[in-house]
Amino acid sequence: MRPVKLYWLECSSDELPPDTEWLTPLESARCRELHFPKRRAEWLLGRWTAKCALVNFFGSELSSSVLRQIEIRPTLSGAPEAFVNGISSLASISISHSHQRALAAVAPPTSALGCDLETVETRIDAFVADFFTQQEAETVGQCAAADERHAATTLIWSAKESALKLLRVGLTADTRSVEVLIERGEVPDSEWRRMRVTTVDGRAFSGWWLRSGAWMRTIVTDLYSCSPIALSIAKFGRTRGMFCTRCCLRGTQ
Ligand SMILES: CC(C)(COP(=O)(O)OP(=O)(O)OC[C@H]1O[C@@H](n2cnc3c(N)ncnc32)[C@H](O)[C@@H]1OP(=O)(O)O)[C@@H](O)C(=O)NCCC(=O)NCCS
Repeated sequence: MRPVKLYWLECSSDELPPDTEWLTPLESARCRELHFPKRRAEWLLGRWTAKCALVNFFGSELSSSVLRQIEIRPTLSGAPEAFVNGISSLASISISHSHQRALAAVAPPTSALGCDLETVETRIDAFVADFFTQQEAETVGQCAAADERHAATTLIWSAKESALKLLRVGLTADTRSVEVLIERGEVPDSEWRRMRVTTVDGRAFSGWWLRSGAWMRTIVTDLYSCSPIALSIAKFGRTRGMFCTRCCLRGTQ
């Protein structure tokens, strides 16, 4: 079976344009409803990152008018769904934001996915005891150095969030209902590493994680996937002002 192609883009708040002309009318209305500046800022950065990722995924140029053709709508669960010119399901998308940064993951519509972005932080032992499975706690316990322990804890937590986003339940579910299996060993910075996530009801998901400095990212998919491919705003080059159905299917080839 051919592995599914996974894509990711990360943006920081200083990449966000000063105007909001790139939002659709529905998105602008939603933005106006967000009264807390922190929530509004993270929501905007998440939308910007996701829309830029989709423009790159579909191989179009970046402009406000192109971005306005894409709408990210929340489902009842809060999970984001991408629409292009009102047509749904052209791509699967997941969003995460943390400390003025946002991560968006994109995959073909046949694949469910979840992504998460975290900073590596010190978490107390009770955190692991309360939220991790026995096996995950043992994985953390095998780390001798404190930094390694904090990184493993953040990684497992992030992978759980990604898997629970894939399942569209978020933290309404017991975090021990998904179990993260990571390979131990030397971890090169800035290289995606494979992991696996299993669920209590016997399903298995394919996952990836990437640490660079203080940042940890995870992406989990329900189909076998290849190492995530970086999208980049700088890569936008093709000049096409409008989306059409054929263009939107380009990214799925
Ligand atoms: C999903 C959840 C784990 C995200 O955790 P978090 O660490 O706070 O936030 P992150 O930045 O990593 O991710 C937030 C993004 O996850 C996505 N998301 C939210 N709920 C989701 C769900 N049920 N499934 C998949 N993705 C979801 C959204 O895109 C959200 O960003 P946005 O609201 O700006 O679009 C958390 O929001 C949660 O548990 N939600 C429970 C479901 C809920 O309360 N829904 C409210 C109905 S609106």
